[in-house]
Amino acid sequence: MSKLKLEFKTRLKSHAELVEKTLINLLNDITVEYEIERPARLLEAMRHSSLDGGKRLRPFLVMESAAIFGIKPEQAVLSGSALEFIHCYSLVHDDLPAMDDDDLRRGKPTTHKAYNEATAILAGDALLTLAFDILSREETHPDAKTRIELVKLYAQNSGLGGMVGGQMLDLEAETKPSINEQEILTLQAMKTGALIRCACEAGAILGNASRQDRQRMFEFGRIIGQAFQLADDILDITSDVKTMGKQTAKDADKGKGTLVSLHGLEASQARAKDLLAEAITVLEPFGDKAAILVEAARYTIERKH
Ligand code: IPE
Ligand code: IPE
Ligand code: MG
Ligand code: MG
Ligand code: MG
Repeated sequence: MSKLKLEFKTRLKSHAELVEKTLINLLNDITVEYEIERPARLLEAMRHSSLDGGKRLRPFLVMESAAIFGIKPEQAVLSGSALEFIHCYSLVHDDLPAMDDDDLRRGKPTTHKAYNEATAILAGDALLTLAFDILSREETHPDAKTRIELVKLYAQNSGLGGMVGGQMLDLEAETKPSINEQEILTLQAMKTGALIRCACEAGAILGNASRQDRQRMFEFGRIIGQAFQLADDILDITSDVKTMGKQTAKDADKGKGTLVSLHGLEASQARAKDLLAEAITVLEPFGDKAAILVEAARYTIERKH
């Protein structure tokens, strides 16, 4: 393994550990400021949904994008954790019977299976709200203007015109007789791409990057976001339940609109490689400072789970 790959793997692991510690702490049973009580069952369901699992790629991207602008992992971990909570909420709701109806997530029963549907809905709601509570806190960033910029970024990428909107288009596509490439690209840019792009742009915001550098991080995030869902759709066919920790071979059955269903496996794998090359080109102006992010892009596309 090359020195760089090794460094990437080490950082992926150490960032994930820092995120885990932070999430555990944020989900302790002590109320904060305006809270009245933290109901035990809801808290348990939130822990089930977010602790001990997942690649933690989105917080990793926040931390490594921020690192390009001189920000330490410890200074970016709260923003990263807030995004991970939004991601976890999206998974809890994505797995509900009314949506993808999945029983297994991160090698464990989905939240509605471990608890019940109502609790899973509420756990998702509370994870999403907690994310915005975290963004508002001074420990997240000392400058209030920066925090508001982060709130706007996260809200707009998560909601109507971002992840939630993409989930709507994804469900609608299941019942449509056909879906074209542009429609697939839009729905994927929204349901998955938005949070990944958000991670990269958050790093630039935390680091007070110039407009041009922020635009570069946006573009990098846009490309790897697309590659990430493409890889997920490929793995749905090529991998297995044990490796993925979630059910595979489900997209075709459900009639999900994916690029793999449209163009086949081989063309999709070739497309993923092209996206990697594009992502690397966008990072070129940062030189060596972006070496870890280049590896992150490679991982996004070449990952095995
Ligand atoms: C799964 O995301 C859902 C998609 C957007 C495809 P991840 O593959 O990042 O899931 P975890 O967080 O590692 O479990
Ligand atoms: C998930 O896409 C996107 C979000 C959760 C927002 P998928 O439905 O393809 O993700 P998996 O395959 O269930 O992880
Ligand atoms: Mg889905
Ligand atoms: Mg799903
Ligand atoms: Mg999938």
